[in-house]
Amino acid sequence: PLAATGALVAEATAARTAVAAFNVITLEHIEAVVAGAEAANAPVILQVSENAVRYRYGRLLPLARAAAATAEASSVPVALHLDHVQSDELLRQAADAGFSSVMYDAARLPYDENLAATRAAADWGHANGLWVEAELGEVGGKDGSAPLDAHAPGARTDPGEARAYVTDSGVDALAVAIGSSHAMTTRTATLDHDLLKQLSEGLDVPLVLHGSSGVGDDELSQAVRGGIAKVNVGTALNIAMTAAIREFLAAHPDAVDSRKYLSVGREAMARTVTELVEVMRR
Ligand code: G3H
Ligand code: ZN
Repeated sequence: PLAATGALVAEATAARTAVAAFNVITLEHIEAVVAGAEAANAPVILQVSENAVRYRYGRLLPLARAAAATAEASSVPVALHLDHVQSDELLRQAADAGFSSVMYDAARLPYDENLAATRAAADWGHANGLWVEAELGEVGGKDGSAPLDAHAPGARTDPGEARAYVTDSGVDALAVAIGSSHAMTTRTATLDHDLLKQLSEGLDVPLVLHGSSGVGDDELSQAVRGGIAKVNVGTALNIAMTAAIREFLAAHPDAVDSRKYLSVGREAMARTVTELVEVMRR
């Protein structure tokens, strides 16, 4: 059934586990995430990023409706989350399109502007029933440098700044920079577990890890034990899908029916989902 992100994250926090959130681009991604979660009998979050909306000719509803319909038909709770939203126009479509949560991404802005934009997004989101996630990477501007977002390798969230940011913005969850970075194709990131401990002890909102495709199983389960309650995964699905399709097409150069290779890609993604979801629980 369709579930709410806030409830799934709260349940994960109470159980000292994490809920996995997978970025979906195609209908096959949606089906694979739900099938993979069903195989593990675990709740899951389907996330649609602003980039994915751009890929879908700028339209949110086609993918959103497919995600909602797949969620409603599933045997496990599935929540819909709008990810890395920079555009206020897209933010305002979230609730009507079936999303229970958004990640508002103002990390490119200097601290004061990030805070003001995020507070406005959180106020609007709360008035419209949305759970709002934001991120604080490295605060730039002090030395004239541009801010580093939470996924730049080397960016680190400062615990003191994070405390003030969460209090002043009113967000429901915080994405933190502790060593992961987006779009890694090897699982070689090393996380700063001491920093995670400080952040987790100093903040009373759930913490989110982005760029989790680059984080190995042991690092990931340690991060979950250390207070990460939502784990965002995107690239790992594409790695699995593309490798499986590449292998299939190489072995079947005469194949033409797209279902033949898309199903192979979908199954590979579903296996990846099941494996990762099980890591969150141990
Ligand atoms: O918000 C989405 C995630 O941060 C995905 O990152 O593609 O590196 O796994 P990833
Ligand atoms: Zn992300």
